[in-house]
Formats: sequence, C-alpha cells, structure tokens
Amino acid sequence: MEKELILVLDFGGQYNQLIARRVRDLNVYCEVIPYTTPLNKIKEMEPKGIIFTGGPNSVYAEGAPSIDKEIYDLGIPILGICYGAQLMSYSLGGNVQPAKKREYGKTALKVGESVLFIGVKKESTTWMSHTDYVEKLADGFHTTATTETCPTAAFENSEKALYAVQFHPEVAHSEEGNKVISNFLFQIAGCSGDWKMDEFVETSIKALKEKIGDKKVLCALSGGVDSSVAAVMIGKAVGKQLTCIFVDHGLMRKDEGDQVEEVFTNDYDLNFIRVNAQQRFYDKLKGVSDPETKRKIIGEEFIRVFEEEAKKIGTVDYLVQGTIYPDVIESGVGDSAVIKSHHNVGGLPDYVDFKEIIEPLRDLFKDEVRKAGLELGLPTELVMRQPFPGPGLAIRIIGDVTEEKVKILQEADYVFRREIKNAGIDQDLNQYFAVLTNLKSVGVMGDGRTYDFTLALRAVTTIDFMTAEFAHIPWDILGDISSKIVNEVGSINRIVYDITNKPPATIEWE
Ligand code: XMP
Repeated sequence: MEKELILVLDFGGQYNQLIARRVRDLNVYCEVIPYTTPLNKIKEMEPKGIIFTGGPNSVYAEGAPSIDKEIYDLGIPILGICYGAQLMSYSLGGNVQPAKKREYGKTALKVGESVLFIGVKKESTTWMSHTDYVEKLADGFHTTATTETCPTAAFENSEKALYAVQFHPEVAHSEEGNKVISNFLFQIAGCSGDWKMDEFVETSIKALKEKIGDKKVLCALSGGVDSSVAAVMIGKAVGKQLTCIFVDHGLMRKDEGDQVEEVFTNDYDLNFIRVNAQQRFYDKLKGVSDPETKRKIIGEEFIRVFEEEAKKIGTVDYLVQGTIYPDVIESGVGDSAVIKSHHNVGGLPDYVDFKEIIEPLRDLFKDEVRKAGLELGLPTELVMRQPFPGPGLAIRIIGDVTEEKVKILQEADYVFRREIKNAGIDQDLNQYFAVLTNLKSVGVMGDGRTYDFTLALRAVTTIDFMTAEFAHIPWDILGDISSKIVNEVGSINRIVYDITNKPPATIEWE
C-alpha cells in the first residue's frame, strides 16, 4: 500500500513522539527521523509534509542542530514548532534572540487569519516553553498569532507553504492544538487520512503471507502485548507454519502464564509450546541480590532455554520479533546514560538457525499495537496489559528471589491491581504494581506479635515512561487496599506508598 507520509524532523525536543502520535491519531502515517538525515533521503521518502520539532538549543549557539537550507525550496509544506520555528526563521534571514522573560506554561494565544487556524478560536490557551523568540521575521513571512510576551507566536510564508508556531500544538494543554495540526495535515499538506488500523492489519497479513510463503517461522512469546500481537498477526497469515515458544520463568504476575497459554492454545491455529522453566530460573537466582546480576542471569537463562527448544524444531527461515516504533526511533540529539540494562524477554540469541527477522509491528506506536491486537481478536485484558519488565517480578523483589517470595508478591500485586480496578481508577494510571521489600518489621495482629515483610505500592502517571509522577491516589482507596492486602495475603504486616517521581527515582525499584 502506498502510504501518505508526514516526516517529523527531530531536533531533540521532549515532545517529539507526541507530535507523531497526534499526527497518527488523525489517521495520517508519520515517521520521526533525526535532523541529521541527509536531504536526499528525505526527498526519496516523498513526504507530503514535514514537521520540525522543538529542541533544547539556541539556533545561534555553536554546533546547534540545523538542516540544509535547500529543504525550504523543495515545495514540501513545513510546520516548524518552537525550536523548529526559530530555526526556519533564522535560516531564512530572520533574527532570533533571548527574550527578556522566559515564557513557560499555559499562555493566552491570539490568532489572526491563516489556513493553519481555520476553525481555531480567536483566543485560546496554549502551551509555551521557550526562552528565545523570533525578534525579526525573515523576508516573505508575516505574523499570524501573538501572546502577551511573544509578538511572533506564529508566522508564515504561505506562498512557500512554510508555517511556524512558537507554541506546542502537540501538548494537551494547547486547547486548539489538534486543530492546528489537523489544518497543517489536511488543509496545507493535502493529506487524506487513510492510515487506519483495520486496513493496516489486513494489508500486513496479506504481505506476510506472500513473504513467508511455505516457510517456517519461530516466535519467542513473552506474553507481553507486543510479542502477542506480532505472533497472532503471523499466525493469521501462515497458521501452523508458525511455532511460538513461551518460556515461563516463574516470575510472571499471578496466573499470567496460564492466561497466555489459554489464549494461544484455544483461540489460534498455530503451534504453541510452553516451557515450564520456573525451577531453572529459581535455581540460578538463588542467593543473588544485585539487581543488574539478576537481570543478566534471567536474560541469559532465557536464551539458553529458548535455544534448547528451538533446536528441537530444526531449521527455521524466519524469526519474529515484537519490535515497535519507539524502539526504532533514533533520537535527534545525543545519547542518554544507561540507567538500567533493560532486558526484553523477547530478546533473542544471535545464532539460532534462521535466515531473516520479521518485525510486523515496527511501524506502530504502543496504542496502535493495542488497536491492532483488538482488531485481531485478542482479549482486552491481554491487549491492555500494563508494561511489564522482561525480568518480571525478580526486579520487584528487593534482595534475593525465592519461590515463596514470588508467591507472596504475586498475591499482593493481584489484590492491588484488583482493587485499583474496583475503585475505577485503573484508566487514570499508566503503571501500578507492588514491590516486596527486603525489610521486615514488627507488627501486631489479633493479640500476637508479627515480624513480617513490608510491601511497597507504586503507581505512576506518565506519557513516555522516561519521566513519571507518582499517582495521587485518594487516601481512603489506599487505606482500603492496605487492609485488604494484609488480610488476604499473609506474611505482610506493613504497607508503604511510594511518593517519589521519576526522576529522581525510577518507576521500578530495581
Ligand atoms: P524504569 O524503572 O527504568 O522503567 O523507570 C521504565 C519502564 O520500563 C519498564 N522496564 C523494563 N522493561 N525490560 C523491559 O522490557 C526491563 O528490564 C525493564 N526494566 C524496566 C518499566 O516497567 C517501566 O514501564
């Protein structure tokens, strides 16, 4: 299928993926590429429009991200946002300089006549985050919006289809942001909005069928959303030519292993192998308390088990991976420090005997993967599952991992999740789970003294999981959950709620 494409040129802004999400929500396919992408490559991709993101730099700083000026002459409509707006102006002869006052947060925006503002209220609230501003416009441009402190909150050269906004239309606080993006896509770039999930699923299945032919395919199924959706999609394309290997490391949430098995053995016509490797993992983890060592052991053991099973199947031609789009995007500016070595249980050995990797979801964002999963008939509980780390409960048990501790945590986590759902606040939280600390303390139950574990509850709201805020769950709900866990689970006599954001903490405790 020839897809219409919008390119988001990434200058290192914190909202760049959000821009792509907004575009895709309007049913237009969109890719984020680094600003260093050669112009030739951009031309070859034949985008219908280009969006420049914001970024942390000043355009006049030495080594500030920039792009070949020829881009403005390609006849492709461009929307510059924040840094992108300043860069466009600066490159074409305008003047950018630091403002007297940094403009940050919700700001009143006044818009004038522009195709970009069709249907947009004359005055609305928008989100600003900038220190520099465009003091003098480049030739051929005129102002189309202002705020109290920014005389050039939007400007354009409509003849050349160059549009710029100093505010962030992609951020939810910008009341009319979606309309601005929509106008750029449909009124200016001439998109039709034909990127829809049902069509994506159908077209992908057809393409996979053609590509795979009568060959064999192998999939490492973790039970997570991505690998499950990838597996089902390929299963629909080639049925029993696909073998899914699900390694149960005994560190899943309560009943999760059984749920995965049930879905894949009952509902889909593919080969499914569950390897019950719980004991192997517990043996390897015995006495190990360092978080990174635990991750490493689990990653390696997973590969060993997977290889043993794969060998039994013999030569396969294709290996399936549940890679999704955020894994593929290269950021525009620098690399950040590795805080934790993330292990995906889907991560596979390099030398299993296969010819090629298939990644059917590599163009999709997480919520698009979920839509595709529902489209494919996967159960909602599986599709809407919160992110769950590859090493599973092992990194939510502080200190050494034992089977007994896993059981305690599984039960406590189950009660926590059940009660959050019962309280009707599950949709407000992006991730919530229990952590079994290695702290024991004295308590009293009935008439007796107890000396039991302290359990920590963690719930966060976040957009991208890179930063997060602890969720402000009402005290009465937390109190209720606390007594239910203590009463139902056993071995826990104290419960604490984690009130740290990320940073300085991380979401997981290890
Ligand atoms: P942190 O703890 O780094 O977590 O703030 C950010 C997000 O990543 C998930 N996470 C992992 N996912 N393998 C994964 O596949 C891992 O080793 C891993 N560690 C953390 C975490 O649950 C959160 O959603």
